[in-house]
Amino acid sequence: MLDFKFDWSKDVETGIPIMDTQHKEFFRIGRDVEQLVMCHCIGVTNKQLLDIVMELREYVAYHFYEEELLMKDYNYTDYLEHKKKHDAMIQYILDVDLRKLSLDPYTILRTVRTFLQDWIFQHILIEDLRLGHYLKEHGYQEKQT
Ligand SMILES: [Fe+2]
Repeated sequence: MLDFKFDWSKDVETGIPIMDTQHKEFFRIGRDVEQLVMCHCIGVTNKQLLDIVMELREYVAYHFYEEELLMKDYNYTDYLEHKKKHDAMIQYILDVDLRKLSLDPYTILRTVRTFLQDWIFQHILIEDLRLGHYLKEHGYQEKQT
């Protein structure tokens, strides 16, 4: 997993366009974090660090809200279990200590990077793919906007 660089692949596609589009955005943020880690955060500004953490906070709140709406719309049987994992992820991101981040960005961002990788392997590849199957089996239809 150490050489996983947040590259999108067919293996992570749920087949549900709204989920896949949002997951791609998550991968993009992951790549941004990875890039800073790869250059050991040399020259990174506090603003850049703050922006990336804020972006993650916003992303998880928005994306999980959308996924949870889908689950409710289709009476997903594992809704509560799935939501619990979302809540834990939200809490993790909220708990990133911004003071420590500015003092030692490399150590903190490296931990965040590993957490995001774990999320992909343990949540997106398992829970979200399962949700994607369920939605397709239960007649998922794209909402018209
Ligand atoms: Fe999810």
